[in-house]
Amino acid sequence: MEHIPQELLQSFRPPAFQHSYFLSFEGIEGSGKTTQIRRTKEFLEDHNFRVLILREPGGTTFGEHLRQAVLSNQTQLHPLAEAYLFAASRAQLLHEVVMKELSVPNTVVICDRYLDSTLVYQGKARNLGHRLVLEIHQHFPLNLVPHMTFFLEVSLTTSKDRQNVRNNPKDYFEGQGDAFYRKLIEGYHEVRDLFPERIRTLDGELVPDEVFAKIQEHLTVLLKTNDAKDK
Ligand SMILES: Nc1ncnc2c1ncn2[C@@H]1O[C@H](COP(=O)(O)OP(=O)(O)O)[C@@H](O)[C@H]1O
Ligand SMILES: [Mg+2]
Repeated sequence: MEHIPQELLQSFRPPAFQHSYFLSFEGIEGSGKTTQIRRTKEFLEDHNFRVLILREPGGTTFGEHLRQAVLSNQTQLHPLAEAYLFAASRAQLLHEVVMKELSVPNTVVICDRYLDSTLVYQGKARNLGHRLVLEIHQHFPLNLVPHMTFFLEVSLTTSKDRQNVRNNPKDYFEGQGDAFYRKLIEGYHEVRDLFPERIRTLDGELVPDEVFAKIQEHLTVLLKTNDAKDK
């Protein structure tokens, strides 16, 4: 794997707000992100958090315009164009929404895909390299990463089976072949090794209740650790 300087990796840190948390969910299509985000939201709301779910590109007026442009685009964009489009939308989302919301205590912002998706899709599958993608993101506010990221790991077969059940029209990224998906899976493994402290891997093949039980364990530790720091 390519060499990534430690200083570059260390420029990424979670936002420093007390009693507010930034989370993301990662994994290929059909890995169960939407399902588990819904449960996580209910769990956190039961614990008196205000929960916001965001998706990229989007979440701001500018981001929604970009989303339409990217997802409806019929020609393949250059990977750098993709990476910068997502980064542009992300910078605006952090500035307009994430920072403001997290400054309110007891808020949790959940991103359905975030930086790791850009690393995996543009960095790995489209060959830009992780280093270049990280360099694009190394300055504030793009260097803000979640306190915890849940990576739902499923096989290509499971991903396909679940997508077939869902039967939505395929979007810009979903209409790709097996080789592309294998690269995504490999990319997620590489990204997990770059950020071992932030990323929690979950077996997405388990039934939803079992997957969520693990998430709940991790969340409980995260919330407790931060409570202890305050004392
Ligand atoms: N752990 C699971 N076991 C079996 N089916 C699941 C599981 N998690 C999600 N599903 C189903 O798989 C499909 C895709 O799940 P979804 O949460 O939308 O995944 P994603 O958001 O990652 O694409 C949905 O039909 C969902 O009900
Ligand atoms: Mg989803």
